[in-house]
Amino acid sequence: MSSSLLKFLLASVVTLASARGISLPRDAEVSTAAISSAGCAALSKVLSTKVFYADSPVYQYENSASEFWSNVQILAPLCVFRPESSGDVATAVSVLRKSSGSFAVRGGGHMGIAGANNIDNGVLMVMSNLTTLSLSSDKSILSMGPSHRWGEVYKFLADYDLTVPGGRLSPVGVPGLLLAGGVNFYGNQVGFSADNVIQYEVVLATGNIVYASKSSYSDLFWALKGGSSNFGIVTRFDIKTIPSKKVWAGIYSVASANVPALLAATAEYAANITDPLSHIVPATIATTRDPVDFIAAVILFYDSDTITYPDCFKQFFEIPSIGNTMAFKTIADFADETGTAVVPGINDIFAAGTIVGTTYDELLMGINLTNSIFYERLPLLYDQVPASEISIIQIDWQPIGKLWMDATTAAGGNALGLDSSKIYLAWAEVLEWIGSEYDDICLQWIKETTTVIKEATKTAGIYSSFDYMGDAASFQTEAFFAGYGAENEAKLLSISRKYDPNRLFQTLMPGGFKIGA
Ligand SMILES: Cc1cc2nc3c(=O)[nH]c(=O)nc-3n(C[C@H](O)[C@H](O)[C@H](O)COP(=O)(O)OP(=O)(O)OC[C@H]3O[C@@H](n4cnc5c(N)ncnc54)[C@H](O)[C@@H]3O)c2cc1C
Ligand SMILES: *[C@@H]1O[C@H](CO)[C@@H](O)[C@H](O)[C@H]1NC(C)=O
Ligand SMILES: *[C@@H]1O[C@H](CO)[C@@H](O)[C@H](O)[C@H]1NC(C)=O
Ligand SMILES: *[C@@H]1O[C@H](CO)[C@@H](O)[C@H](O)[C@H]1NC(C)=O
Repeated sequence: MSSSLLKFLLASVVTLASARGISLPRDAEVSTAAISSAGCAALSKVLSTKVFYADSPVYQYENSASEFWSNVQILAPLCVFRPESSGDVATAVSVLRKSSGSFAVRGGGHMGIAGANNIDNGVLMVMSNLTTLSLSSDKSILSMGPSHRWGEVYKFLADYDLTVPGGRLSPVGVPGLLLAGGVNFYGNQVGFSADNVIQYEVVLATGNIVYASKSSYSDLFWALKGGSSNFGIVTRFDIKTIPSKKVWAGIYSVASANVPALLAATAEYAANITDPLSHIVPATIATTRDPVDFIAAVILFYDSDTITYPDCFKQFFEIPSIGNTMAFKTIADFADETGTAVVPGINDIFAAGTIVGTTYDELLMGINLTNSIFYERLPLLYDQVPASEISIIQIDWQPIGKLWMDATTAAGGNALGLDSSKIYLAWAEVLEWIGSEYDDICLQWIKETTTVIKEATKTAGIYSSFDYMGDAASFQTEAFFAGYGAENEAKLLSISRKYDPNRLFQTLMPGGFKIGA
């Protein structure tokens, strides 16, 4: 999250990173044993002008830090394949099936998990040339190809005073977010981003192109809302638009001494989400190492181009700020503003968990617990990684309550399995560092920290098995869908086996979140 302090920190990190020439780190957990390199040669025979090898500038661009959020994702694919139409994707799926060629699919490249969107020695299929971006004649539906990042979508829609419920930061990709669910600014009005998709164009394992909607392939339609890459390759998303000229939004930061007040204000908001126009993302952010200290910043979003200081945010504005960017702005501008918190070209990891409760006391206890364990464990990381090599350490909480889940239900439901009688705080730990020599240390620290936090929330009776896919780490991919509840997990598995009986999307496309793998 940005404040002037953070912007200063970020700017110095960018300078450091570019001065050093970042090497290409590998995640020790990625297994390359079962990878078949046969796909590139087979694809070259039929789609030669769209297959690029390591000596080509296209390969170098598509496999570079500019196209992946975190350096840990950059691997060594044998070739890059750039389909130009859903027909190309369909041909490729058939060719890969027949040749048993291993592959990975990359959209916006923001899933920070090595092997989820790239592959050593296989085909890296990139979505960059599937660039559809068009409004229906009545402007109620936007058709989006999977090449896009949310910032491009918002800029396109700004000309029509419209938006869509997508990523809160501009650089995040469209397809991965929609296949994960999508935590968005408009959630208390329209639910998860995926709840607003009315049709998917999908290439199935057979190589057939189908259109999944409420009335056609309705089981597939449901599964794509949170089920990730287990069912097919989506080549177009048709999503409902929302009228939006400007919103009242910004980032409100408070000093270390006021962090407890901000956490309490967060619990107060989360326990009583009654204004559908509002959304918040509170975070605490490490500042000094010795002693360990942190500040807090909250993204406050209000969907109005006339109202400032709504009642639901009152408790935040009672706390003195050290930074405040609240103003009327377009979604395009706001997503660019939050997007400045992302430092390109370094090493990053997210890890996820969820607190569940029904009262202010439970939610505050959960926030306090996650926050205090996170910072209590920080010296263990500082002992191993110089503070100068750490760019960002933070933890945030995303409130999802009844308004949000009622909107999900009204839209027809999704695979995530949340219960509208509860209030969830989906938390995410964020760690960004410089230098691949620290990859294993950082991964290990965040893995252990996540375990300790989860155990403590279990003991306190506020643990939820749900992890938000968009924020989950490599060590959370295994048995991931169990977190959606046994019923949804079984349903996802049966839909996956129905459309992909030979498990092409699990075996030839091994990365990421796999059901029943
Ligand atoms: C800085 C940052 C901010 C974020 N902010 C938000 C936020 O506000 N809200 C939110 O909900 N999430 C957020 N996320 C999480 C985000 O939703 C995930 O990282 C998501 O995977 C990004 O989508 P992508 O297209 O960039 O991902 P990619 O890494 O390209 O893809 C993710 C997964 O989906 C698969 N995939 C991609 N395209 C297709 C396709 N067309 N068909 C089938 N499978 C495909 C890939 O193989 C991969 O396994 C954020 C992440 C980061 C790093
Ligand atoms: C993809 O798009 C780029 C940029 O618009 C274009 O140069 C290229 O020819 C397209 N096709 C392929 C297969 O790369
Ligand atoms: C809930 O929030 C609204 C403002 O959004 C406020 O008017 C109301 O008093 C709050 N209720 C409780 C129980 O805190
Ligand atoms: C949360 O922590 C603050 C101080 O950090 C404390 O005042 C408050 O009592 C704690 N609340 C709960 C419910 O643990």
